[in-house]
Amino acid sequence: MCGIVGYLGNKQAKDVIIKGLKRLEYRGYDSAGISTLQNNKLEITKTQGKVSDLSAVMENISHLGGLGIGHTRWATHGIPNDNNAHPHCDNSGKFTLVHNGIIENYNSLKLLLKDNGIDCKTDTDTEVLVQFMGYLYHKEKLDFVETVRLALNQVVGAYGIVVLCEDHPEMLIAARLGSPLLLGIGEDEYFVASDSSPIIEYTRNIIFLDEGELAIIKPGEYQVRNISGNEVVSKKVEEIKYNLEEIEKGGYDHFMLKEINEQAHTISEALRGRVNSEELTVNLGGIYDWVQQILDANHIYITACGTSWHAALIGSYILEEMLNVPVKVEYASEFRYRETAVNGDSVVICVSQSGETADTLAAIRKAREKGALTLGIMNVVGSSIARETHCGVYIHAGPEIGVASTKAFTAQVTIFNLIGILLAQKKGVNPEMIQPIINDIDSLPELVQSVLDQGNEILPIAEDFMDVENFLYLGRGYQFPVALEGALKLKEISYIHAEGYPAAEMKHGPIALIDDNMPVVCIVTEKGYDKIVSNIQEVRARGGKIIIITSEVNAELKEYSDHIIQVPRIHHCLQAILTTIPLQLLAYHMAVLKGCDVDMPRNLAKSVTVE
Ligand code: G6P
Repeated sequence: MCGIVGYLGNKQAKDVIIKGLKRLEYRGYDSAGISTLQNNKLEITKTQGKVSDLSAVMENISHLGGLGIGHTRWATHGIPNDNNAHPHCDNSGKFTLVHNGIIENYNSLKLLLKDNGIDCKTDTDTEVLVQFMGYLYHKEKLDFVETVRLALNQVVGAYGIVVLCEDHPEMLIAARLGSPLLLGIGEDEYFVASDSSPIIEYTRNIIFLDEGELAIIKPGEYQVRNISGNEVVSKKVEEIKYNLEEIEKGGYDHFMLKEINEQAHTISEALRGRVNSEELTVNLGGIYDWVQQILDANHIYITACGTSWHAALIGSYILEEMLNVPVKVEYASEFRYRETAVNGDSVVICVSQSGETADTLAAIRKAREKGALTLGIMNVVGSSIARETHCGVYIHAGPEIGVASTKAFTAQVTIFNLIGILLAQKKGVNPEMIQPIINDIDSLPELVQSVLDQGNEILPIAEDFMDVENFLYLGRGYQFPVALEGALKLKEISYIHAEGYPAAEMKHGPIALIDDNMPVVCIVTEKGYDKIVSNIQEVRARGGKIIIITSEVNAELKEYSDHIIQVPRIHHCLQAILTTIPLQLLAYHMAVLKGCDVDMPRNLAKSVTVE
């Protein structure tokens, strides 16, 4: 949440920053702002709205020079207006700062400032931090670095920040605790950003700031120190692995549509080099050394948020079925605060596309504290979760930019199958159980492509229902999480209220909602076929409109449905991958028809780095 960019070099900082903020807009788009330092003077421009609104406002304002910071906001403290937009500055006008995170003790700092005659001008927690820096700088007569360090040492909460000081026109300070931040090391230029997307155009060399670290950046040199002790930390320069094209729309109207259509490819990437279908083996290097410890564990927990939680739920079904051990799924936000039975005999698996979700990260830290073995399933290489788990598997879906997650979900489910197979084999389960899954995995990318190729069948359904206010999604077994995911996709991007339910649970409440206006999406597969057909009858008897997504087309289903979409049949552990895709497309088309901003849905952000 919130994207931040900093630049120091020979280019015009404003150009690098605006371009970078556009790439980070998936992290929030309530307001945007920039601050540059030219002729020893700070210039700040900010506005409510998107980065394009900021560019428009900047047209008549000079932002020259090679030093600057920028921000795109997802509002936490204070409504999204011009005043609350970042960058914020202190009352002396010496300091300006952009921030991602939450300063939890902002109220006590605000009182301290007030007692010293400093009033804040905005409703944000961030302004308090920059005012506090200004206060320390003047009162304690500290230098720039010590000011930032001392201020941060008194902060409770989470931050990724970049700061400028008018008295130091050749210096940029960046610091991190709880919110991601990395440095790009170019030739005679440096970048700071919330992720690597604003940097890749200029350099592939990056450094991940770790928790509690601060970077001092000057022309031709940088240094990383730890905030608490001020010791210099030596950092490894790493390489960005993806290409620029992967973070561009590539001819599609929206990132979401591009990402939906990439799924045959992304699933191939998730599988690449990992499955030997002749020898019926799976190889996952990232957990190889930990397999026995995982198998020896008494409990498996899986924790995640949002769409990743839905993949986790499917993952729990897969692992429980293949390993015959109990597997519990927890929302990370609950798990981190609940008294759990996690201990040294537990394995805690976390699933996160971004690898930065604050609750998931906190859940994994708690699990480690309790002695559990932690395993991450992530997309973003080098992300916080990737670095803080004992072992893990990357899903290799490539950058996902659309706020509504699509390709990450199907890749996560694919990876759960691979983990299940690997563990089951090592556990010595009957190969006859594994063989059909491995056989079907081979054809998975091709079958995904065939579902995508019939994508145009979804548009008429969207046209029929674009004006309704409610939707219900029903599924059983492996298709229940798919129902949840279909409903989530719809509400996220088209703002239609939607609920996913286990089909039989409908009778315990949602059935009261069914009337002639209620569309009900039913996901029907071979497993549990008769049961869900009965549930469909119950909906029909009450006048509900039936949309069926199925691997089993027959006269009965055709008769019962207002719309029917067929997907190929595949092993039931993999089936969710195929049934989810039409639901992603349904949500997409509904949102486009309704004129919603598909890639930047209101109030949402892709990377939720606050709890
Ligand atoms: C946000 C995004 C979702 C995502 C969830 C978890 O809510 O909008 O698309 O599923 O965060 O994110 P993660 O990066 O941990 O998978």
